[in-house]
Amino acid sequence: MKILNKKIIAETNQIKIVRFEIYSPLIASKGNPGQFVMVMADSHSERIPLTLVDRDSKSQSITLIAQEAGFSTRRLARLQAGDSLFSILGPLGQPTEKKNYGKVILIGGGVGIAEIYPIAKAYKKYGNQITVIVGAKTKDLLILRKELEEISDSFYVTTDDGSAGSKGFVTDRLKELIDKENYDFVYAVGPLVMMKAVSDTSKEKEIKTAVSLSVLMVDATGMCGCCRVTVAGQTKFTCIDGPEFDAHEINWQEVIRRNNMYIDKEKHICKLDKLNKNEK
Ligand code: FES
Repeated sequence: MKILNKKIIAETNQIKIVRFEIYSPLIASKGNPGQFVMVMADSHSERIPLTLVDRDSKSQSITLIAQEAGFSTRRLARLQAGDSLFSILGPLGQPTEKKNYGKVILIGGGVGIAEIYPIAKAYKKYGNQITVIVGAKTKDLLILRKELEEISDSFYVTTDDGSAGSKGFVTDRLKELIDKENYDFVYAVGPLVMMKAVSDTSKEKEIKTAVSLSVLMVDATGMCGCCRVTVAGQTKFTCIDGPEFDAHEINWQEVIRRNNMYIDKEKHICKLDKLNKNEK
């Protein structure tokens, strides 16, 4: 669980996105696209789910990408090459279904772009024609742009401020594309509101759509029930039944409401953590 490499791949005044290459022989030999691991940076951190972005059986390592978003991701981002993670559990969740859908649009928003990358590679390998749309607040937060562009048949960038690609949201580009041509499948990962917007947009054209959810996970083994979501009227656990679900069957209002429940507490803990850090 030693960190072999660490690199800050995107940074603004407020946001930092970090890539880690971690020595983990067992996960490197077993992981599949769509799966994730649970990571604890140190003994005081929470367990956080991170997508398996890549794995390398030669170096027996896995690649993870995390955005500093709260208490535990900040502590993770402070670790350096040579440090070891307190714990890592995985691979977890169901792998993505590898099949030829035909014409696929993959959409990544923010750090969700990292989660799109292994899926895009898998879909390409299975003969799909892939169109990738990546979106971020600003140019400095676009990650894996070159890597995704290389494997895409068509590639589009959107930024909220227009500093790269077209100004606007990923859903603006999605709408343009599906209004012009027929597509067989849409796959999106990003903030919940983005995934809901993608789902609403593709639903109008009845294009089957999947999203990857990693909401409120605690144990990630199906024991605690914290990650429950309602899909097609049934309770599902994102950690063992997901993280991929049919976007058109998700009760989005419920997911977003539950996800917002802990925002104030998280802000409070981050504030305390900053104070503690300054005291050292
Ligand atoms: Fe506990 Fe999924 S995280 S049941």
